[in-house]
Amino acid sequence: MCGIMGFYGISEEESAGLVVLKGLQNLEYRGYDSSGIAYYNSLNNKIESIKRSGKLANLSKEILCGNPLKSGIAIGHIRWATHGKPTNENAHPHLDCTGNIAIVHNGIIENYIKLKGRLLKNGHKFITDTDSEVIAHLIEDYILQGFSFSESVRRSALEMKGSFAVAILYAPEKRVAAVKYGPPLVLAQKGGNLYFASDISPLLEYTGEVIYLKNSEIAYFNDGVLDILSFGGKKVKKKVAKINWDASKVAKSGFSHFMQKEIYEQPSCILDAFSSRIVFENNIGDNKSSKIVSIDKNKNIAQQLAAKKFKVALEDLRLTKKDVESAQRIVFVACGSSYYASLISGYIIESLCGLPAIVHYGSEFRYGSFPVKNTDIVVGISQSGETADTNSALELALAKKAKVVSICNVPGSQITAISNKGVIYTHAGPEIGVASTKAFTSQILCGLLLALFIRQYNGFLPLGYDPSVLFKDIVELPQKIEKILLEGEKIRDVAKKYYKSPNFLYLGRGILYPIALEGALKLKEISYIHAEGYPAGEMKHGPIAIIDENMPVMFLLSNNLLSSKTVSNIEEIKARDGIIITISDYEPDIEGISDAIKIPETSLFLSPILYAVPLQLFAYHIALLKGTDIDQPRNLAKSVTVE
Ligand code: G6P
Repeated sequence: MCGIMGFYGISEEESAGLVVLKGLQNLEYRGYDSSGIAYYNSLNNKIESIKRSGKLANLSKEILCGNPLKSGIAIGHIRWATHGKPTNENAHPHLDCTGNIAIVHNGIIENYIKLKGRLLKNGHKFITDTDSEVIAHLIEDYILQGFSFSESVRRSALEMKGSFAVAILYAPEKRVAAVKYGPPLVLAQKGGNLYFASDISPLLEYTGEVIYLKNSEIAYFNDGVLDILSFGGKKVKKKVAKINWDASKVAKSGFSHFMQKEIYEQPSCILDAFSSRIVFENNIGDNKSSKIVSIDKNKNIAQQLAAKKFKVALEDLRLTKKDVESAQRIVFVACGSSYYASLISGYIIESLCGLPAIVHYGSEFRYGSFPVKNTDIVVGISQSGETADTNSALELALAKKAKVVSICNVPGSQITAISNKGVIYTHAGPEIGVASTKAFTSQILCGLLLALFIRQYNGFLPLGYDPSVLFKDIVELPQKIEKILLEGEKIRDVAKKYYKSPNFLYLGRGILYPIALEGALKLKEISYIHAEGYPAGEMKHGPIAIIDENMPVMFLLSNNLLSSKTVSNIEEIKARDGIIITISDYEPDIEGISDAIKIPETSLFLSPILYAVPLQLFAYHIALLKGTDIDQPRNLAKSVTVE
């Protein structure tokens, strides 16, 4: 949702406009409806800007045909409209009255009406319906009062309320500034040039070393010199973080869509999520591993696991034994697919740790009256780490002295700064497709690792729990996902039969119920088909009324879980002529199934991962047949940084 890209080249050889345009292309996945670029024109010492509604292609056509943007400094933006329609005019950058200042902004200026009123009285002219335009005039106003550029930016930052990441270009002094209070801003320097963006994906092709701005920090850059100051005006020393994502991860690499590529990356993502975190028992102290086990994939895994006692060590988690022992419940907050991963994690926590788990939507939690206690471990699950509702919910929990942990995919993101008890990184690599796939399955695995970690300290002994079977199944998971991916064509054939259906029902029980929700969500998101997920046992309390010969019902059927109950639900649908499609880990003895997709068996706690994969492929193929915009579905944003 909105994205900022900026470049300050110390020579004008490199067209800053083109660097920024390329960067914006890498940010497109965040979701947007208009875009724009402002650049410094050294011929007249002025700012030129180009803004276009619609896809970035509209802007790039303009730039590549008419305007080469020969300049060493530029800031650009993709906008997801909040205040004002997605028109050319409302697109960023916004200029002040003199045209000397250009700004781009992510977030919301909550007190913009008040600020605008004052600025209007001072004679400023506004030309857009946005909240963001106020920033350019506010800085201008301070400059008119005689303050320096940097002091004007600082005073403006202190005056604005809401959430903002802002990039500012100031032509008279050839300077740029970047302000962070809420949405992310990442800086990178290479060969004297400065690159900055809303996330690391556009920076990867230049360098793997970045600086994350923290809240209430301002970066100033001028002729190769970078200064970072706090809102209080104090110089801040920053660490350079190394990113091990490579640039090829933000390319489609031969796949038709990012979503398709990300579905096929899941075996390696799952491997990355667990491989260094399963350690010998005698090598871990208080969550610190001294030796990392590498399981030899060519030898008998069961034998290797049986020979030693394995445990889970989570490198960036700071939950202590005492924290775990005093925990009375685990509370999850998340949005979208991450919420469904939380439901699954909650199920696993209750089963493996014997602790009550409560799962909330971030948006409900933050305005609800949930009584947070200091004995709660509150876990935020978020792919992006930027989701405003999730982060605000966690901040609330933090204020109530809860222990806050996150499961997150993006290093250095906002959620990781909020989490006082550390992070479990999903290690799925950049996820570009708006509809979450590989991050979702990695979140489930990390939820399981968290449960195993907690269990190590709280000593709960679940009935029938055999750790060696579970560890073996974790290790074998990537191969089992591969096996499902090899069935891609079969799943495409099933999709072909049903892609014209206007409605779908997805049913599952227990740990597979959230997968029914996720399967329906995937279909809705990318194919725009109405789909509903429901607990199979609840079907007769409502959804059964909509069953007829035109309604395809996707059943998630597992041999190790209430299978006879779900089979009865299938019979109920059949009796009403509904169309039955099954995904199952065994051959169910039922007649009248229209289409059956078979997947490998695994442990109960890992089964959601395997059931999610065919549902992702099913949604993908249906969307492909319908010709929708799979990677950037209409109206959706990848990172929802506003309420
Ligand atoms: C948006 C995305 C979803 C995602 C949700 C939560 O709605 O389109 O795919 O599940 O945000 O995002 P998060 O980054 O917090 O997991």
